Amino acid sequence: MKAAVLESYNHFVWKDVETPKVKPDEVLVRIQFASICGTDMHIFPGDFHPRSPVPFIPGHEMGGVVAEVGNGVSGFNPGDKVAVDPIIWCGECPACKRKHYPACTSLKLLGVDMNGGFAEYISVPPHMLFKTAPHIPDQHVALVEIYGIGFHANNRAQTAEGDIIAIWGAGRVGQVILQAARTKTTGTIFMVDPLENRLQIAVGNYDNVIPVNPKKENPVEVIRKHTGGKGVDIAFEAVGHAEEIEGVNTPVRSCIQSLRGGGKVCVLGLGDEPAPIVFKELIWKEGQIITSRVSDGEFTEVIDHLNAGNLKPDALISKVMPGSETQQAFELLQKEKGKYLKVLLDFS
Ligand SMILES: NC(=O)c1ccc[n+]([C@@H]2O[C@H](COP(=O)([O-])OP(=O)(O)OC[C@H]3O[C@@H](n4cnc5c(N)ncnc54)[C@H](O)[C@@H]3O)[C@@H](O)[C@H]2O)c1
Ligand SMILES: [Zn+2]
Ligand SMILES: [Zn+2]
Repeated sequence: MKAAVLESYNHFVWKDVETPKVKPDEVLVRIQFASICGTDMHIFPGDFHPRSPVPFIPGHEMGGVVAEVGNGVSGFNPGDKVAVDPIIWCGECPACKRKHYPACTSLKLLGVDMNGGFAEYISVPPHMLFKTAPHIPDQHVALVEIYGIGFHANNRAQTAEGDIIAIWGAGRVGQVILQAARTKTTGTIFMVDPLENRLQIAVGNYDNVIPVNPKKENPVEVIRKHTGGKGVDIAFEAVGHAEEIEGVNTPVRSCIQSLRGGGKVCVLGLGDEPAPIVFKELIWKEGQIITSRVSDGEFTEVIDHLNAGNLKPDALISKVMPGSETQQAFELLQKEKGKYLKVLLDFS
């Protein structure tokens, strides 16, 4: 088969590699599309070394069609459309014993810790596969994983009907948090991002979304004004490496300041810098800070909503490129960071 192999850091080679042999307890999937994630952009230059050693095949957001079913597997047939859940937890650590799988101390992912989906085929155990309805476009199947992040965050924060929400970061993660939140609440959603093009994607696709550009107005003041001084029920932080903006506090502190009494902040951004907060501001509200990592069983929920037409996957897709141009796709994303949301690679 052909695969986009990261031969050395910053250097993909589109080449022939051995097609995985399907074991009796595995299913061979013919990958149709894979999506490039922010994590892949860190793996590419070697930030994940030695966790992601080269040469290897990255790609942890992927969808495809069942090509072959191992003779010990039931419930799958060639031609089934499937999304691949890349997460591998150990089952033994204290978190796993409590079924808190995203907190597994040795959590691994296909395409991060081992070969993944930037290839024509992958062979995986059936518990990692989730069938979509046949009418779902192949490109959308590749987005189930990132949607899982958005749904998991909302489930962690227990978003409920009527909740008013603020989301810092209208990038890939912020947009899926928004789409997932909209399946759970019709309440106002504030989107905070200095990039106008990303705010417009949110506003253009959903009613009752208020865009806030922190370079133009203070998000906490805007939120207070629109909520009659009350604040939001939940504030999500989906920024990570925050751009410093004069006169505006960092995203996590702004999230806390925008909360109503008893509200929740849910942090997803994986910045390396400390995020300064003033605990008094949280304690006065007896607010909670929770975090959300990857997903935990949300593939089924995502697929139910996709099948029912409740999500807007096309709003996330900025560009589709052939798998043979994986190197060019990564270079493009490095050069024009804020221009694209999801770039899909076509392996069909
Ligand atoms: N916890 C998880 O499960 C999980 C999963 C995937 C990604 N992440 C992390 O989530 C973060 C976001 O990922 P992404 O792919 O959406 O990145 P992204 O770059 O697409 O989005 C980040 C957005 O934040 C905006 N931003 C920067 N500074 C800001 C500020 N001061 N205020 C408001 N917005 C600001 C940027 O303009 C950008 O649009 C990253 O740190 C990533 O590593 C976490
Ligand atoms: Zn990812
Ligand atoms: Zn574990």
